[in-house]
Amino acid sequence: MTLTHVPDASEDLDRYEVEHLFHSWSFQPGVAPPRVVAAKGVRFTTEDGRERLDFSSCFVSHNLGHQDPRVVAAIQKQAGELASFAPSMSTRPRAVLARMLAQVTPGDLDRSFITLGGAEANEAAIKIAHQYTGRRKILSRYRTYHGGSAAAMSLSAGDSRSWAQVLGGTEIVRVPQPYCYRCPSGQEYPGCNLFCASYVDEVIELEGGGDQVAAMILEPVVGANGVIVPPPEYLPRIRRICDKHGVLLIADEVMTGFGRTGKWFAVDHWDVVPDLMTLAKGLTGAYVPLGAAVARKEIGDRFKEQFFSHGATYAGHALGCAAANAVIPIYEEDGLIENSATLGAYLLESARDLAERHPCVGDVRGLGLFVGLELVKNRKHKVPLTAPDAKIRPGANPKLEVGKKLFDLGMIAMAANPSNVLALAPPLIVTAAEIDEGMALLDKALVVADAYVEE
Ligand SMILES: Cc1ncc(COP(=O)(O)O)c(C=O)c1O
Repeated sequence: MTLTHVPDASEDLDRYEVEHLFHSWSFQPGVAPPRVVAAKGVRFTTEDGRERLDFSSCFVSHNLGHQDPRVVAAIQKQAGELASFAPSMSTRPRAVLARMLAQVTPGDLDRSFITLGGAEANEAAIKIAHQYTGRRKILSRYRTYHGGSAAAMSLSAGDSRSWAQVLGGTEIVRVPQPYCYRCPSGQEYPGCNLFCASYVDEVIELEGGGDQVAAMILEPVVGANGVIVPPPEYLPRIRRICDKHGVLLIADEVMTGFGRTGKWFAVDHWDVVPDLMTLAKGLTGAYVPLGAAVARKEIGDRFKEQFFSHGATYAGHALGCAAANAVIPIYEEDGLIENSATLGAYLLESARDLAERHPCVGDVRGLGLFVGLELVKNRKHKVPLTAPDAKIRPGANPKLEVGKKLFDLGMIAMAANPSNVLALAPPLIVTAAEIDEGMALLDKALVVADAYVEE
């Protein structure tokens, strides 16, 4: 065995990709994906030397764009001083980040558990909700994504630390989205009087109200499942319903947090303060993996008397915290949140222009630099371009074909999500000229989906 020299010529790397890796959410490929060797700002370069636009911000995480020298320097400095230490001890970056998160998040969100990513942040939030309320049920909505982990603590049977998971874990109750383009109750806003929210009220009541239901978790603006922006009254109404029953509200801002929707956090659009907020992605701009579950003061303070049954070796990792401490002030200093609002409006307008030329576009919606185009086979009858299970089935997938065409033309967007929505989420540093450039490429790529349109 010669581990000191693993051959790393291009063909070797391709072979390792195919033979030795699990690739996320896919049939394992027979051919390695193109290799990225460099990235700068809103562009990245593959091994063949070709540069392309990144209109996905790498799953909506690189909010600052790629290789910002200020962040790289902060990571290098921290690595030189203290790369990491056990979470039972304090480190300067962790303490500073905890304070910064208390300052930047809305209302009295105050105490953070710092994780390695979004899924772990949601796991932490759900566990806090269970432990704080002593209840087991969590309301979640269809068409949502909260992370890839398997509610790991519920599986840790026999370890006394898992006993705090009430009666063995989470019992999930699902409710619909405020998905107006395809209203689940077949109504039209505003005539519907937000039936989707009233229904949540009824479900909580029928599930045992505040005796049984610990929390409701939601993405304030749905990400991977279709850039669903709720009507303005929806979230305040949900907040009131949760309060009425004494149910906690968890806002998963993993994708929407840190300026993506044109405010620091998406809930800020509607002045709603959740009881717990989960963060990742834009927290470090993806330079180092990191997430956080932030709890309101009253919830956090409870755990002075009650054992906090959660933890991880890398919780509050110094490198990640140092990256976040460099990244968060940049949102303010560089005016990135304003840029997201202003150029987001421009991106939305440009996407609407495209929709006029492409019959495959059934709906365009978005908030800030987060815009989705819902693709259909028939606009009038809203016939979906692909079935809900298209992503997990083998064979042709027209939406992935659009993504492939876009890549060939010189850009990536979020095309591989399970929904029929092609999402555009460039880094928040994007300029109007770069948006024009990207939309010109998208104009050409949408022709692929137009070919599937049936009159
Ligand atoms: C809303 C939301 N929550 C949670 C996650 C999971 O985050 P991670 O991939 O960092 O575990 C994602 C990932 O895309 C997300 O979009």
